[in-house]
Amino acid sequence: MIRRTVIILAILLLPLLAGLLFTYEVINVEFNSLMEDQVSVKNQEGPIIPFPEQSVPFKRGAYVARTVENPYPGDPESVARGEALFAVHCAVCHGDKGIGGGPVGEYFDPPPPDLTKDLLRSLNDAFLFTVLTDGFGRMPRMVENLSVDERWDVINYLRSLAQD
Ligand code: HEC
Repeated sequence: MIRRTVIILAILLLPLLAGLLFTYEVINVEFNSLMEDQVSVKNQEGPIIPFPEQSVPFKRGAYVARTVENPYPGDPESVARGEALFAVHCAVCHGDKGIGGGPVGEYFDPPPPDLTKDLLRSLNDAFLFTVLTDGFGRMPRMVENLSVDERWDVINYLRSLAQD
C-alpha cells in the first residue's frame, strides 16, 4: 500500500520536477522575455525616420505617404489598363461605363453617382486618389484591391470617360 502511494506521488510530482529544471535553468532554453526586445518597441527607438515628402496627417496622428501627382495623365496605355481594372473593381457598383446602375450599386442609398458627368470634372486627381485609397462615404476603400499605379490607371480612365 505504502509502495503504491509513493509510486503515485512520484508520478504526480514528476512533471513538477521537470518544470523546475527549466525554472532554475538546469535545462536552458533561449526565451526572450524582455519587453524592450520586441519589434514593436524597437521600432520606436533609434533615429526617427522623417515623414515622406507630401505625406499628410491622416486619421488621428497616423501619417500616410501620398503621391498626389498623376504620373501619367492621359497616357492611352494607362487608360486601357484603367478600363480593365474598372470593369473588375468598380463596374459592379458604378455600372459598365461608370454611369451607375451596377447590380451591387442598387443596394446603396443614395446610389453610386454617375462618374461621367460634371461631378468628375470638379474633382481633382489628388482627391480621386484619396477616394480610391480610403473610400468615400459608403463606398468601400480600394487600397487593398488596387496598387498605387493601378489607382492612377483607373483615374486616367475616369478622366477619359468624362471627356465624351
Ligand atoms: C461596393 C460598391 C462600390 C464600388 C465597388 C465602388 N464604388 Fe465608388 N462609390 C460607391 C458609392 C455608394 C458612392 C457614393 C458614396 C456616398 O456618397 O456616400 C461612390 C462614390 C464614388 C465617387 C464619387 C466621390 C464624390 O466625391 O462624390 C467616385 C469618384 C467613385 N465612387 C469611384 C469609384 C471607382 C473608380 C471605383 C473602382 C475602383 C469604385 N468607385 C468602386 C460605391 C462603390
